[in-house]
Amino acid sequence: MDSTIAKIETKNVVNLKNYKKKVFIETYGCQMNFADSEVILSILKNNKYKRCENPLESDLILINTCSIREKAELNIRRKLNSYKKLKKENKTKIGVLGCMAERLKKKFLEEEKIVDLVVGPDSYRDLPNLLNKVDNNEKAINVKLSKFETYERIIPERIDSNMISAFVSITRGCDNMCTFCVVPFTRGRERSRDPKSILNEIHLLEKKGFKEITLLGQNVDSYLWYGGGLKKDFPKALPLQRRTSLRFNNLLEIIAKEKPKMRIRFSTSNPQDMSDEVIEVIAKYPNICKHIHLPVQSGSNKILKKMNRLHTKEEYLTLVEKIKNKIPSCSISHDLITGFPSENDEDHLDTLNLMETVKYDYGYMFKYSERPGTMAERKFTDNVPMEIKNKRLNEIILKQKKHSLFRNQQFLNKTLCVLIEKESKKSNDFWSGRTTQNTVVVFPKKNFCPGDFVDVRIENCTSATLIGDAIRISKDI
Ligand code: 5AD
Ligand code: SF4
Repeated sequence: MDSTIAKIETKNVVNLKNYKKKVFIETYGCQMNFADSEVILSILKNNKYKRCENPLESDLILINTCSIREKAELNIRRKLNSYKKLKKENKTKIGVLGCMAERLKKKFLEEEKIVDLVVGPDSYRDLPNLLNKVDNNEKAINVKLSKFETYERIIPERIDSNMISAFVSITRGCDNMCTFCVVPFTRGRERSRDPKSILNEIHLLEKKGFKEITLLGQNVDSYLWYGGGLKKDFPKALPLQRRTSLRFNNLLEIIAKEKPKMRIRFSTSNPQDMSDEVIEVIAKYPNICKHIHLPVQSGSNKILKKMNRLHTKEEYLTLVEKIKNKIPSCSISHDLITGFPSENDEDHLDTLNLMETVKYDYGYMFKYSERPGTMAERKFTDNVPMEIKNKRLNEIILKQKKHSLFRNQQFLNKTLCVLIEKESKKSNDFWSGRTTQNTVVVFPKKNFCPGDFVDVRIENCTSATLIGDAIRISKDI
């Protein structure tokens, strides 16, 4: 054989062996879904796939879906429709993952002919096997939920990362059963991740230069782990004997001590699970951010009861007071639902009054959306007319804007430590970063760089943003 041909052939064999299919992944919904997409990519990367940024070039399109409100599902159906032509022309395979996959199961394959693959949130390790089936032109599905899966030891493949802040998942699932919520059905029972694997992931992030982590879970305050051995690998960790439990306050403290140069955030906290010890740990460590996302959902005790929220308005306000007493600088944000079944003007007024008392820094506000299979769908009628839902939503959004402005004005003429994350969207002469309270600050770039902690003098503000001038590298965090 001619030696050039032999060379080319060898080269082709090598190329074929190393050939990686291209996967395009898009994510809808909450931070947990974004964190999951990074786990999914890590699993695929080790199984002959590489990520691409253009669906037109891909062999496989994966959509990590959200089910929380009807609107989210409608958007995903619309997106699937938009891929019909592409699938026909390029033979691209299409998979749906996550909450909507779990909710609809086999029905997804029946209702949306374009879909080849359906995978629930606890079955991502099975993806290579399922994709083999898809490659053989079979439809593939795995929607088994697990009581144990936490994807520990899978180091997420960061997507569009600023290389400064990252999500680290610490619990999965939810046992709370709020009557409006589909999450306990789509993400299964609550379970906590091995602290060693959490610390290991954070350690690797620090080595890569990351400055901030957000510990994620549907309900981080109910983190619970039994087991030993931490001290050997992580010298500053608490001595953990077998059968001693490790709770969220312990985990926070261990991470804060191990990584004093990293900022630590966490989300989401459920009011009934937030212990005094957690508040004390937040107060004690400067690198634990002074911000708590504390969804309340409604300010009416009647509605809270019907929502099966495990706290009253009074208990919630006592908790807020406790937080503010121990950590005066702590910001508090919320989630609120308006127009839950039977919510009347008086209940709505209770919500507005609660907002007035707390004066939240910011919040996420939603119209109630009836979700199939939830207790609220089975027991109550979705009886608040849409015009009233809209009117109430507008009122709470307006109030929140007023309070956000009020909170931001408290920072005027103060100097705050800001972690620079990226260029401001509005001007490429400005950096954008966040304070410990999670407030966004923009300021002229000068010679500072993303990843720097800088002291910024606050000169102006809107309800969403602080505007200032960076004066020096900060000694704080
Ligand atoms: N309708 C409207 N909002 C909802 N949320 C959860 N389920 C619903 C629903 N059925 C909101 C809650 C929750 C946030 C993530 O989404 O406020 O805290
Ligand atoms: Fe849903 Fe309630 Fe669990 Fe949050 S705490 S995920 S709202 S059931």
